[in-house]
Amino acid sequence: MNILSIESSCDETAVAIVRDGQTILAHEILSQIELHRLYGGVVPELASRQHLEAIQPLLKKALAFAQFTWEDIDAIAVTQGPGLSGALMVGLTTAKTLAWLLQKPLIGINHLEGHIYANFLAFGASIQFPLLVMLVSGGHTQLIEMTGHGEYNLLGETRDDAIGEAFDKVARLLNLPYPGGPEIDRLAQEGDPYAFDFPISLPRDDDFSFSGLKTAVLYAVQALEKAGEPIPVADICASFQRAAIGSLLKKIKRYFKHHPLCGLSITGGVSANTYLRAELNHFAQERQLQVFMPPLALCTDNAAMIAACAYYRLQKGPIDDVDLTVRARWPVVEKIQNV
Ligand code: KG4
Ligand code: ZN
Repeated sequence: MNILSIESSCDETAVAIVRDGQTILAHEILSQIELHRLYGGVVPELASRQHLEAIQPLLKKALAFAQFTWEDIDAIAVTQGPGLSGALMVGLTTAKTLAWLLQKPLIGINHLEGHIYANFLAFGASIQFPLLVMLVSGGHTQLIEMTGHGEYNLLGETRDDAIGEAFDKVARLLNLPYPGGPEIDRLAQEGDPYAFDFPISLPRDDDFSFSGLKTAVLYAVQALEKAGEPIPVADICASFQRAAIGSLLKKIKRYFKHHPLCGLSITGGVSANTYLRAELNHFAQERQLQVFMPPLALCTDNAAMIAACAYYRLQKGPIDDVDLTVRARWPVVEKIQNV
């Protein structure tokens, strides 16, 4: 089963071809970061235009890399949402056109579910259920219990900023380039994580909160500026990172104390974070637990994860979502509120 997939939900145009949900035959990504960096964040209108320019050359490159013709493609998968409407529409329209011309099934994939499947793409059958999934991206911070393919219970999520968003906002107030996550990760390695005592926010239940931490960093920077002192950027990065990642680690550890699960899967852009990965490796060894972290190339947005997710969906029965429309807002799973 060779699935061609398209991802265009934000600022990466990506095309992949994946065989049987596990072998990547082509993996093309065109990042728009340099363009959006000029504006300090993603400009939706510019993103759509860039996707439109990039998509056809990337499709051609992917086919050539896999040494495929269109006849070798068995199904088309595409990110249907969540994301920027105009950006999603470029990928979706392209995918629909291809599916119609080739007379192949079209599968619409939730981008967040795609992130979860980055680990199934990398580790396949070695992942057992039930699994604790920590989804940490630019727009989401969710703790999910996954009981089978496509089966999720949302345990907790952020009450305000997503963790990636907090990294990006803190980087911005330190005048670091967009996106801030990788910059903070890099600078933190030269800083003292105990230089500032930023709060590790632990709201009740399995929820998260990052806006208080972001404000604490802002106040610390303002106080230093007011006192005419230099800003110790690396120390702030390391201290902020210890607090932000610390709240994820605390919640994960607490959950495992009370629930015997088969493993932990961490996924989304922030799963590329060096400190998080090192701490989780420690935890895995300490607890004799299987921790799955995508290879770095599959942490941030890509199309291969979308194809992998579509493959597992197709195992459950035939799908042909010919009437797909964009879903700019689309949670993987809604939280069931206790009443
Ligand atoms: O999953 P992703 O590529 O896009 C979304 O679906 O949101 O995640 C992007 C987010 C950004 O906020 C970026 O700053 C963050 O992931 N990120 C990181 C690292 N690499 C990317 N955050 C912390 N450390 C990193 N190494
Ligand atoms: Zn993403």
